[in-house]
Amino acid sequence: MSRIFLSFLIMCFTMSVLLPILLTAFVFTVERTEAESNNRPIIGILTQEIHYKLNEKFPNQYHSYIAASYVKFVEGAGARPVPIWIGRNDSYYEDILSKVNGVLWPGGSTYFFQKEGYADAGVVIYRIAKEINARGEYFPIFGICLGFELLTYAAANRVEHRSNCSSKNQPLPLEFTDDFRESNLFKNAPPDVLGILAEEYVTANYHRYCVTRKDLHRVNLTDEFHVLSLNRDREGLEFISTLEHRQFPFYGLQFHPEKNLYEWVTGKNIPHGTSATVASQYFANFFVNETRKNSHEFRTKEEEERSLIYNYPVTYTALWNSSFQQCYMFKKSDRNSLLIENDV
Ligand SMILES: *[C@@H]1O[C@H](CO)[C@@H](O)[C@H](O)[C@H]1NC(C)=O
Ligand SMILES: *[C@@H]1O[C@H](CO)[C@@H](O)[C@H](O)[C@H]1NC(C)=O
Ligand SMILES: *[C@@H]1O[C@H](CO)[C@@H](O)[C@H](O)[C@H]1NC(C)=O
Ligand SMILES: *[C@@H]1O[C@H](CO)[C@@H](O)[C@H](O)[C@H]1NC(C)=O
Ligand SMILES: *[C@@H]1O[C@H](CO)[C@@H](O)[C@H](O)[C@H]1NC(C)=O
Repeated sequence: MSRIFLSFLIMCFTMSVLLPILLTAFVFTVERTEAESNNRPIIGILTQEIHYKLNEKFPNQYHSYIAASYVKFVEGAGARPVPIWIGRNDSYYEDILSKVNGVLWPGGSTYFFQKEGYADAGVVIYRIAKEINARGEYFPIFGICLGFELLTYAAANRVEHRSNCSSKNQPLPLEFTDDFRESNLFKNAPPDVLGILAEEYVTANYHRYCVTRKDLHRVNLTDEFHVLSLNRDREGLEFISTLEHRQFPFYGLQFHPEKNLYEWVTGKNIPHGTSATVASQYFANFFVNETRKNSHEFRTKEEEERSLIYNYPVTYTALWNSSFQQCYMFKKSDRNSLLIENDV
């Protein structure tokens, strides 16, 4: 009898002491995981002045565009895109950045001096993104090609420091710097991806400008950015092919990983094999992973829905020899069509 009673007592004790501990641990784990990872990231993709070729085809119809390969690039890694308009005021950029989880700056061929253009918007976004990170919220920026150049241009307070470069249609392996493994961008990269990047001609280069180490030094940015890889253009000029900011989660690639995956124009040396695909997908996964560390959100579900890129049509531009397979083209009036509630 007493033995059974003792067992009963022990059982009661176990339940009353252990169960709450177990439950607490479980709840804590669930909460922590949710707080750490935003698994529904939304990424702002900066639009750009309409490309001259698109404008030739549709004279004066459109104001800005995004090549669809950048949209697919983030979608393919688990995020949804929202266009960020050019030519708006600072409160617009403050507002949209408080709602998205990171920003992608696409490549292209616009000029940095154009009023109310890509670079004007980029400079404001850069300032706000620094402020967001400085107050302890993780907020990544990922720049590709012209977007990479925009990163150091914004950091240099608009002091133009790019060199002329001859790197059109040039696939290259990356020449990693000695301490590239200490970077965010590459520290968790799988060995097979690093092997491909270091040895195979997979990174797709299409740029008439580049940033050299000397250029970076000239604008006093050597300490601010960590140079992770270098390459040489067709004339032998050494340029920076990847870098990241030392303090903030800002990354730049001079080449185009989205082209390996989503652009199919022929005659431009875009590598499409298994290795190129695996390596390019790594950069998409890396960037979207970074945006999951941010918890910004739109104020309402409706505002989110009306902001997503799915509100806009996509055009099959490759049919008339554009180097882009598909493009999102925006009218000036599209910039006003969203319910952005500026007042809190
Ligand atoms: C910024 O632009 C929005 C929309 O055009 C406008 O409502 C707002 O008043 C502007 N804010 C400032 C500070 O100019
Ligand atoms: C780049 O080339 C253009 C001519 O194509 C020239 O006007 C310009 O000065 C060059 N820039 C640099 C930094 O060498
Ligand atoms: C870089 O630093 C030097 C020395 O402090 C200064 O004279 C120069 O104006 C700076 N250049 C830029 C572009 O900030
Ligand atoms: C995603 O971020 C987490 C946390 O920083 C890291 O452990 C993981 O390796 C990252 N994955 C990729 C693909 O970068
Ligand atoms: C596209 O290029 C091909 C070959 O250069 C040419 O024959 C064709 O007319 C072009 N199509 C358009 C719509 O420009």
